[in-house]
Amino acid sequence: MLFDFEYHNPTKIYFGKTALSNLESELNGFGKNVLLMYGKNSVKKTGLYDEIVQILDKCGKKVVELAGINSNPRYSQVLQGCKLVRDNDVDLILAVGGGSVVDCAKAISVSAYAHGDPWQRYWIDYEDVDNKIVPVGSVLTMAGTASEMNGGSVITNEDQVIKNGRVYGPEVYPKFSILNPEYTFTVPQHQMVSGVFDIFSHLLEQYFSGDDDNVTDYLIEGVLKALISSAKVAVKNPLDYQARSNIMWCATLGLNTITGLSKEQDWEVHMIEHQLGAYTDCPHGLGLAVISVPYYKYICKYGLDKFVRFATNVWGICADGKDKNQIALEGIDALADFIKEMGIPTTLRELGATKEMLPLIAKSSVKGGGYKFMDENDILFVLEQCF
Ligand code: NZQ
Ligand code: ZN
Repeated sequence: MLFDFEYHNPTKIYFGKTALSNLESELNGFGKNVLLMYGKNSVKKTGLYDEIVQILDKCGKKVVELAGINSNPRYSQVLQGCKLVRDNDVDLILAVGGGSVVDCAKAISVSAYAHGDPWQRYWIDYEDVDNKIVPVGSVLTMAGTASEMNGGSVITNEDQVIKNGRVYGPEVYPKFSILNPEYTFTVPQHQMVSGVFDIFSHLLEQYFSGDDDNVTDYLIEGVLKALISSAKVAVKNPLDYQARSNIMWCATLGLNTITGLSKEQDWEVHMIEHQLGAYTDCPHGLGLAVISVPYYKYICKYGLDKFVRFATNVWGICADGKDKNQIALEGIDALADFIKEMGIPTTLRELGATKEMLPLIAKSSVKGGGYKFMDENDILFVLEQCF
């Protein structure tokens, strides 16, 4: 059964090798003042920065820049951007980079004109945004988060050691996003597989909850199969356009709300990973991969039929002569094998976690779950399994 729903996704996507040719016409739809945001150094190294500055110039834009956005963007960077927006009366925030830059752009977009402390109001108390929202556009350089087509904005408050995600409504989604899979060719291998697993995890978080027969779960299975086959190609040949373009679109589909529409969802792996990220600053998708296998082994018995479906429909596990428990575990083992094939670490230690951090992560993670409510002790148990 599908729950009743309203669906509206206002982001315009330009996809493919010539996608950047649409930037000029998009820019012409906004006022003169642009805040250009990017990460540490990849956009300058690849030459994309120069191309974009040229287009901005041609459109007669007055540009201010916010460079050096961290992976796992910081709240202090959001505040820096807010000041630039107010001081320069910015009409459009143009984010060029991965999910971190796009998330940070959305955070600035809602926070620049907020009354009071935006962190407390919007990321902790989840208040509705009641102030002017500055429009965001994006040129994506890394596939994974789907931030290019959703309202998510995950920010780390470094003083409070809290990494929190907030999902805003369509008014905060990027107005347009430019996706050229060739830009992802230069993403380092460990970041590429981090992105792949982030996509995987988004799909699983939406899949492992609820038992109804609904179109959304079939969609997820299809996107997962495309992702698995393309990731296996891309990990061997990062310059394979077909594989990289599939991965890029799987990423967008994975969390542009279409594959989670109208069904129950889990998200506990993400809740735990966000606090792992707050303590270790590890790449998001790698953290998710490490936590996923012990987490799914732990909750599998509470949603056994769905795990059986996952094993047979996604991994093609043969069910003949096996009981449900065995089939389900073979599905999770296939997931673990995929993680290994991607060359992703399998322990928290490899991601920089220490034994002392585990209780702190368990305590500070948001508690919840799909088939089983995870309390502090459950989370600590899972973390110890993958330490
Ligand atoms: O900083 P630069 O030099 O640009 O390098 C980046 C960064 O080091 C590099 N990179 C990106 N594109 C590149 C490239 N290097 C070479 N060539 C390119 N074309 O890759 C590194 C990682 O970039 P980042 O933006 O941090 O990665 P990702 O897209 O995985 O974003 C991760 C952030 O998004 C949040 C995560 O928690 C994390 O903070 N998420 C956002 C979500 C959302 N908005 O819906 C949902 C996700 O679940 C996730 O939580
Ligand atoms: Zn994610």
